[in-house]
Amino acid sequence: MAPKITRPFCAQLGKCLQQVTSGQATQLNAGCVVTQKQMVNLTIVNSTFKVFPAGALQSQVAAFSTSASRKSSVSQPPARLLQPLTVPNKILMGPGPSNAYPRVLAAGSLPLIGHLQTEFYEIMDDIKAGIQYLFQTENEWTFAISGTGMAAMEAAAVNLLEVGDVALVGVNGFWGARLAEIAERNGSVAQRIEKPMGQVLSLEEIEQGLKEHKPKIVFLTYGESSGGTAQPLKGVGELCHKYGALLMVDSVAIVGGPYTNSVFCDFPGIDVLYTGAQKVLGSPPSISPISFSQRARDKIASRKTKVRSFYFDAAELANYWGCDEGPRRYHHTGMISGNYTLREGLAEIAEKGLEKSWEQHSTCSQLLYDGLEKLGLELLVKDKSIRNPCVTVIKVPEGVDAKAVSDYAMDKHQTEIAGGFGYLAGKVWRIGVMGYNCTPERVDQTLAVLKEALDLHWKRN
Ligand SMILES: Cc1ncc(COP(=O)(O)O)c(C=O)c1O
Repeated sequence: MAPKITRPFCAQLGKCLQQVTSGQATQLNAGCVVTQKQMVNLTIVNSTFKVFPAGALQSQVAAFSTSASRKSSVSQPPARLLQPLTVPNKILMGPGPSNAYPRVLAAGSLPLIGHLQTEFYEIMDDIKAGIQYLFQTENEWTFAISGTGMAAMEAAAVNLLEVGDVALVGVNGFWGARLAEIAERNGSVAQRIEKPMGQVLSLEEIEQGLKEHKPKIVFLTYGESSGGTAQPLKGVGELCHKYGALLMVDSVAIVGGPYTNSVFCDFPGIDVLYTGAQKVLGSPPSISPISFSQRARDKIASRKTKVRSFYFDAAELANYWGCDEGPRRYHHTGMISGNYTLREGLAEIAEKGLEKSWEQHSTCSQLLYDGLEKLGLELLVKDKSIRNPCVTVIKVPEGVDAKAVSDYAMDKHQTEIAGGFGYLAGKVWRIGVMGYNCTPERVDQTLAVLKEALDLHWKRN
């Protein structure tokens, strides 16, 4: 039987370490960080010191004590993993993720089924139909990418761009800059049209870029979550096609939100449109809707080189999602629970109706604007017609510590009011009113929290 010592450990640990470093003991099991304040159990098994935080690993200690003759080279399991998982319930009023619908969370705990089984194919088909409805498109290549919004962005870029191809990228915030980076990593050339956050690109600026750079694709962010803008898209698709370019649009932080028909995938000539699950769809970040026009498919079919990413190869994925004639082939193991949750997020929109969703986002964003004005706050985007109704960017008044206000909201009310990105860090707050959180009650609650924080942190004259 191995000796077992239980005691305040600081002195003992020092001695053990000394023995190990001086070669008197064979091994002090690595991986256990023990502070001097901790009580630990020390068990010596076959001249090997095993160190366990008191309480957390009692059963492990017992196991080692009783199987003293067995020499183990396995390191200790992380103590925190032996504790139950706890997740606080926060109110996520930042630019995303938003809180998920209860039905969506429930779907996430349904049993797994095989991803090549009939029942799963039916769920995939529901998702395809749901995305076609959300995007108001009949594009056959409409499916979901396994990954978050960024994965859909990357998939769009690597399918449409080959090495040396030029992408004209509208950069009026974080997401255009990100796309430009992805294009360059793909060996393509990114020509940026830069605008300050809070502004959008005009048709003239886009046309100028098309004439000058002769790009293969144009990329625009429909709903900027860093600058709070909604990029006007009317006429852009036609303009791009006139110059032989395809139009790729990011709608992660907007689709399902504003009153508009400009997002209709095949109406204004958008060739690739994608979004994410974690905002208006009120689902966890998981799999992300994407849709390719016939023009985009033709471009992909005429590529001289293979798509650099197998995982994001749209033709392979289209087959896996049953969007072509061929029998479905294994491509990767679908994110099974992610498919359940996205299906339910899409079902929520389908049951409610898109028009109702648009109306809710319009009403709630107006409530937010009115409330912010009453608090004496200014929005970054002055022109209401180019505001993203899903993410509102608010200027931090002179002399107010932006972080102190966000921290107060989180610490006191578990409410997320996000800060700014890049050069707007410390200068703005961002409030997202999307999906499950798009209710007058949530808006009022958030305004009340903000008011309370400002009363403490804003010394008005
Ligand atoms: C406009 C926009 N595009 C893309 C993304 C990337 O999505 P994700 O973070 O889910 O990968 C985000 C995320 O907030 C976004 O707001």
